Amino acid sequence: MTLPRPRRVALGAGTSQTPEIPLMRLLDIQNLTVSFSQHGGLVQAVRGMTLHIDQGESLGIIGESGSGKSVTCMAALRLLREPPARITADRMVLADVDVLKARGAELAQLRGKAAAMIFQDPMTAFDPSFTIGHQIVETILAHRSARKAEARSEALGLLARVEIKNPAAVLDSYPHQLSGGMLQRAMIAMALSCRPKILFADEPTTALDVTVQAQILQLIKDVQIEFGMGLVMVTHDLGVIAETVDRVLVMYGGRVMEQAPVQDLFDTPAHPYTVALLASIPGRTGGRRRLTEIPGASPNPANPPTGCPFHPRCPVAVARCSQDTPVLRSTAPGRDVACWRAE
Ligand SMILES: Nc1ncnc2c1ncn2[C@@H]1O[C@H](COP(=O)(O)OP(=O)(O)OP(=O)(O)O)[C@@H](O)[C@H]1O
Ligand SMILES: [Mg+2]
Repeated sequence: MTLPRPRRVALGAGTSQTPEIPLMRLLDIQNLTVSFSQHGGLVQAVRGMTLHIDQGESLGIIGESGSGKSVTCMAALRLLREPPARITADRMVLADVDVLKARGAELAQLRGKAAAMIFQDPMTAFDPSFTIGHQIVETILAHRSARKAEARSEALGLLARVEIKNPAAVLDSYPHQLSGGMLQRAMIAMALSCRPKILFADEPTTALDVTVQAQILQLIKDVQIEFGMGLVMVTHDLGVIAETVDRVLVMYGGRVMEQAPVQDLFDTPAHPYTVALLASIPGRTGGRRRLTEIPGASPNPANPPTGCPFHPRCPVAVARCSQDTPVLRSTAPGRDVACWRAE
């Protein structure tokens, strides 16, 4: 496997390339906090996240294990059980739905028509006791008024679109009868079946072998453009980020450390944590590019450090970093950083 090669990424429709066309803001999250009550305390998984995504744009969320990436996505789709989860935000609007106020039909609309999510393990998306076809057809029928035969023919078309060679056979297969890569394709087809405005992909290729990984990433990129969706790509893998997204958000300890267009992030990382992440990519000779190399331990979400969550591991921290929490501030157009030391 080669080292991820940062490259110029074509700017999507959601960028300053087309300022004269009003862009639709698909997701707007301001000051999101998510905590879980547990025996003897509170786990503060997300501690003031702010992010947005416009139509056609792709955003990568990167950060070490436990930084709050999945919880952020699950909160945006209200997929967390509440309680134990407690979600607050100054604003959280997804495709015109006020996420925190959504009830009943609005909640159902949120998870399907507004947004769909694909996961690392496609088995979590499918019920093992029903065929793939049954599940995609039921999803279509739940979100749209279509006749069963129409829904089945659409399911066939979607399976063909995700490059499944024998869609009719796969339609009648049970999840356990498919390989990991095929099941991942089927999950993408099911996600697309509601024609969502945003696709959340949470480590969608981590469990797959390298060749299949590349094919699935390409497929996700292709359908994002074809369906005009926004994309939120959550990953540990800087190579995936370099290949798939326009803009990157770096998370640590439940907070945004830095946000930048992908090329700028690779060229001139501003936050010491981003610098450490980029330096942590293992050598050129194979292996998974997991971000596990930064010395020191991630913050304990049950007892997060005061000030900047990265200060105990930061090589350039000063006294202020352990006392005051740095706010996310703009340093250049499209670039934000939360660090007292960043220029
Ligand atoms: N249901 C839950 N109850 C209690 N704590 C939780 C729950 N779900 C997540 N957490 C905690 O919230 C924090 C953030 O978790 P999250 O799954 O968002 O991390 P992540 O960035 O997605 O990590 P990974 O890269 O390993 O997937 C972690 O400390 C995790 O243990
Ligand atoms: Mg996760």
